[in-house]
Amino acid sequence: MKADLERSPAGETLEISAMTQGDVPYVLRIEREAFATQWPADAFYNEIAANKLAHYFVGRYDGRVVAYGGIWVILEDAHVTTIAVDAQHRGRGFGETMLLRLVDESLARGASWMTLEVRESNVVAQQLYKKYGFTTVTARKAYYSYNNENALVMWAGNLKSELYRNRLGALREAGG
Ligand SMILES: CC(C)(COP(=O)(O)OP(=O)(O)OC[C@H]1O[C@@H](n2cnc3c(N)ncnc32)[C@H](O)[C@@H]1OP(=O)(O)O)[C@@H](O)C(=O)NCCC(=O)NCCS
Repeated sequence: MKADLERSPAGETLEISAMTQGDVPYVLRIEREAFATQWPADAFYNEIAANKLAHYFVGRYDGRVVAYGGIWVILEDAHVTTIAVDAQHRGRGFGETMLLRLVDESLARGASWMTLEVRESNVVAQQLYKKYGFTTVTARKAYYSYNNENALVMWAGNLKSELYRNRLGALREAGG
């Protein structure tokens, strides 16, 4: 797939393209520092090679993979399976640019709703999701087995509504 150049709200350009097998070692480096429990390499290889419902992307800055994200789209529902930015490049709008790409992909594939799970303590990610219209609908008790932390289940929609499209347009415009 051709890379898309997308401008982050901070005005820097993240080059987003579909994740390939060659990207996986770079994704794993980010994964190791971003999450307490990590997906093994095979999980990513399987997602990009065999899972027809899965759509994964990487974001490059200065030619280096600095962000990634993925969704599963099942009929009208899109599930954000992962999103991360490497620690040195956070706070520059790249996470937002990647989330916007996931929203756009979900819409392009016909989804009306998006959902995700996020650690209760992960306020940074929750702020990002709230900005894009996600609200907490329920909590899953002790969802993360490594520390028994609860997961918040967040949903956004209706993505196809005029209200949501206007919101997306305004956020995109604010990002320049
Ligand atoms: C969550 C994550 C992807 C955000 O990426 P990022 O590039 O740092 O975020 P951005 O610079 O694009 O910021 C976008 C929004 O996120 C929120 N945000 C970012 N940094 C924040 C901070 N330090 N405190 C509070 N909110 C913050 C804000 O809502 C921000 O919008 P604003 O700039 O209008 O305030 C990144 O912190 C990350 O990789 N974390 C580790 C992995 C992770 O937790 N993934 C989510 C799993 S559910």
